[in-house]
Amino acid sequence: MAEILDGKQLAKDIRKDLKEQVENLKKKGIYPKLSVIMVGDNIASQVYVKNKSKACNETGIDFEEYLFHESTSEEELLKTIQALNENDSIHGILLQSPVPNHININKAFRTIAPEKDVDGFNPVNVGNLTIGEDCFISCTPHGVIKLLEKYHIETEGKEAIVLGRSNIVGKPMIQCMLNKNSTVTVCHSKTQNIDDIVKKADIVIAAIGKPNFIKGNMIKEGAVVIDVGVNRLENGKIVGDVDFEDVFPKASYITPVPGGVGPMTVAMLLSNVVKAAKNKLKQ
Ligand code: GUN
Repeated sequence: MAEILDGKQLAKDIRKDLKEQVENLKKKGIYPKLSVIMVGDNIASQVYVKNKSKACNETGIDFEEYLFHESTSEEELLKTIQALNENDSIHGILLQSPVPNHININKAFRTIAPEKDVDGFNPVNVGNLTIGEDCFISCTPHGVIKLLEKYHIETEGKEAIVLGRSNIVGKPMIQCMLNKNSTVTVCHSKTQNIDDIVKKADIVIAAIGKPNFIKGNMIKEGAVVIDVGVNRLENGKIVGDVDFEDVFPKASYITPVPGGVGPMTVAMLLSNVVKAAKNKLKQ
């Protein structure tokens, strides 16, 4: 039977610590501030951004939101990002994904100044993560690593499988596990024999957006199972990529959905904003 990796509790502890750090920064005249940009009215994004706003408020981080209409041009978006880059009172800039198809999201991420890129999506940060330099690490993979560390889960020399190759989660997750000395395999929609590959893994990280995809009979006895999925079923219930009830008896550790990776993502975002603000102090 698995032990639950309690992301909700760990995120709460991290946020308490960050709140103290924010108070100390304010005493030194630095008021950490995050700007979030949303284009269009994606319902899921609205929920994510609301959570981020609430978390900032609770931690003492100033938060502002730019809500752009679906038809906003790429040029206008880039201009806004550039203005925020130049605004000294802003420490973190986050462009919520997805954006409408007429906007090149990679171009937009590239426009966010690397030192304010608290999502870690600018290629400068992506590159620094790859070569093991200090950088802003994408929040979800970073949150997964913090959870593994909190529970003293050995990663060195372990077989880790990352399911999913998105720029937001899968790819930086691969890099994070490599940096933790795991032997990493990545599976994606074109992978054949996924079941055989997953069966060999000591650590399974699922980020594919397929509800209840990972079943108990797919994993090795005692595997660590990390569920990054957030899927809404027709009945409104939120489930992960892992069939929790089925996998729980066979895994050694498992993250619940909700209450596992999700709260960690938000905590790591706050942590990155505080880091950006502290870097300012060093200048
Ligand atoms: N859309 C879904 N997850 C994320 C995230 O972590 N950051 C941003 N910017 N957009 C997202």
